[in-house]
Amino acid sequence: MADLRIKIGTLEFRNPVMTASGTFGYGSEFDDFFDVSALGGIIVKGTTLESREGNPYPRMAETPAGMLNSVGLQNKGIDYFEKNIYPRIRQYDTHIIVNVNGNTVEDYTELSRRLNALDAIPAIELNISCPNVKKGGMIFGTNPAAAREVIAAVRQAYSRTLIVKLSPNVTDITEFARISEGEGADSVSLINTLVGMAIDVRAMKPRLAAITGGLSGPAIRPVALRMVWQAAKAVSIPVIGMGGIMNADDALEFIMAGATAVQVGTASFIEPLAALDVVKGIDSSLDSRGFASVSDVTGIINR
Ligand code: FUM
Repeated sequence: MADLRIKIGTLEFRNPVMTASGTFGYGSEFDDFFDVSALGGIIVKGTTLESREGNPYPRMAETPAGMLNSVGLQNKGIDYFEKNIYPRIRQYDTHIIVNVNGNTVEDYTELSRRLNALDAIPAIELNISCPNVKKGGMIFGTNPAAAREVIAAVRQAYSRTLIVKLSPNVTDITEFARISEGEGADSVSLINTLVGMAIDVRAMKPRLAAITGGLSGPAIRPVALRMVWQAAKAVSIPVIGMGGIMNADDALEFIMAGATAVQVGTASFIEPLAALDVVKGIDSSLDSRGFASVSDVTGIINR
């Protein structure tokens, strides 16, 4: 077996494979399929201070080699999470990381403060890249001054490992990776979805009630890979790569481009075992080519 352990901030992960927020529920939905503690980490559903209904339906549409979503951060809020979900998932022997959202800087900092108090949540993923909300989300992640302000405020409020999830809907991803590092983030994760839309030509209507949504899946992988490569060269903090990873070779592309870890997202909708298969596939691929550890190939194309 290859050594798959990696470090992000002060945290050691047993392997570099996590599940992307919004694609794996709270982990427990997959208990019937496999032992989710075999994963490096689970990024749970985007969470807000208050309960949210999300956007009107339809809010999912298939596209060639991908899917559009405009869920709108539906979730039951932090009180519900603390009382009903946290007790259920805290026993997992893997890192449970909460994806943090808000309308304002104050929302983000208050939620981060609440999560700082939960000892079984060792990290948060600060989501400044959701494209499906009218306030917060991508509005912070596409404006350098706003990104700087919210990351700095959350850094003050949150003492554990801080990952910032970046939006691809910007001209220069390295600017936002550098801002994250400069404001004290321990890692950046990228990419969130690309803003897209689709029209039902027969019905002559947009396929999503919100008209636009976030595009994910294999269609975005080359763009994601390019941005991960750029970000990894621009900062010294670890980069977590995602965007259309369907199998171990896809994951290794991101790792070879410089990602310390990866997240599997849309693939879990098609194959519930996808993330586990990526862990196993990375291990056997490294092993069969004589690499002792995943770090032997991390960023190998940049050396
Ligand atoms: O609409 C959503 O809940 C998506 C969130 C995200 O892409 O961050």
